[in-house]
Amino acid sequence: MIRRTLACAVSLCTALGLAQAQDLRGHGGPVRALAFEDGRVYSGSFDTRAIVWSGTVAQQVTRAHDGAVTAVLPLPDGGFASGGQDGRVAIWGDSSEPLQFEQWHGLPVAALAPWGAGIASAAWDGQIALWNGADAPRLVEAHDGQITGLVSYGDGLASVGADLRLRFWDADGAPGDSVGLPAQPSALATDGETLFVSTPTGILLRVTPGGETVEQPLGDRPLIAVATDSNLVAAASITGEVWIVDPETLRVQVELKTEQGPVWALAFSDDELLTGGNDGLIRRWRLDGTPLGEGAPERVAMSGGSRGADVFQACAVCHTLTPDDGARAGPTLHGIFGRRIGTAEGYDYSDALRQMDIVWTPQTVSDLFKYGPDTYTPGSRMPEQKVPSEADRAALIEFLEAETR
Ligand code: HEC
Repeated sequence: MIRRTLACAVSLCTALGLAQAQDLRGHGGPVRALAFEDGRVYSGSFDTRAIVWSGTVAQQVTRAHDGAVTAVLPLPDGGFASGGQDGRVAIWGDSSEPLQFEQWHGLPVAALAPWGAGIASAAWDGQIALWNGADAPRLVEAHDGQITGLVSYGDGLASVGADLRLRFWDADGAPGDSVGLPAQPSALATDGETLFVSTPTGILLRVTPGGETVEQPLGDRPLIAVATDSNLVAAASITGEVWIVDPETLRVQVELKTEQGPVWALAFSDDELLTGGNDGLIRRWRLDGTPLGEGAPERVAMSGGSRGADVFQACAVCHTLTPDDGARAGPTLHGIFGRRIGTAEGYDYSDALRQMDIVWTPQTVSDLFKYGPDTYTPGSRMPEQKVPSEADRAALIEFLEAETR
């Protein structure tokens, strides 16, 4: 009887979670990069993972970079590229190991952009790497100092750097015009025509294709992210404010207080704005500024379930309890107790997990979240998270014991 109630509670919670379109919770550190393509959200984090989301479910978690994932780019074939603080670029298909993992830069990657049939990456070393998808990339000395933004523009690219220039590149990667900027750029976005540059002085810059620059002060806090869709521009500050601005007039339409600390990443989805913050959450907002989720820091207490069912909410993003893993990023936890680590059938584990010698018991699963995956199972793709309260861990284990048989 109890089992049944709990099972209902969970499936109900999951259904509600999807229907309520909550925040995306899965990263174990600040969210650093966001992109949206074809109904999916792509995120990168200081936790060294990238996650592909469908609704509020994490479908894929990848880990290869040594340091933060600083850029993510969906690819036309359904995979994606990630760029890291380690100066490397990874190309991901649907397996747990990257299809390609290349050191193109000596310093952190700032941005990735589509380039012809391949991709371009720009880094703090001032270089843009142009990769046609097959050969070694061609490196272009693009800016004197850090590059902080790169976008596809026309059939080429546009980039901004610490040399206070906005530079255009043609389809072959040859330099075109450049425009002087009145302040250091922190990020670059374009709607395909007009370019928008965020700056640490709190000013949003609008640059027309002809090079005419208009300045719009949004506040006195450094702006650290900017994004566009065809009708709107959004810029975010280091203190968590986000402004949604009319791209023509630069008039502020909505000001959000995300309470996420620094908002390092922004993306428009179909009719929402996504904000990625220091709290590790990706929050979702209607374009009129109404939040779609519950925000940090308290987890939503769910419908009539036990404490254990509530604690499991944090896991349900990535794990099911039924034999079918239902296309979630983590393996099913069905039958977890007594199972050796890394052995759920049909799941593509990381090499790290496969080589470990742990059998999952109430004690070892509890220890996993007492010490956190990075300590207990180093190299795991599961994002760092802990369940610090002993009572919560006990409730989680009790719940799993009932629900995973
Ligand atoms: C953002 C996604 C995500 C979240 C949230 C998450 N996990 Fe995981 N988990 C994973 C991934 C991915 C793996 C596989 C790691 C690998 O292959 O390196 C994993 C592995 C595991 C394993 C080892 C499974 C095995 O077959 O060896 C257990 C146990 C586990 N998770 C339990 C949990 C619990 C309990 C929670 C909630 C407290 C949780 N996870 C939250 C993604 C997640």
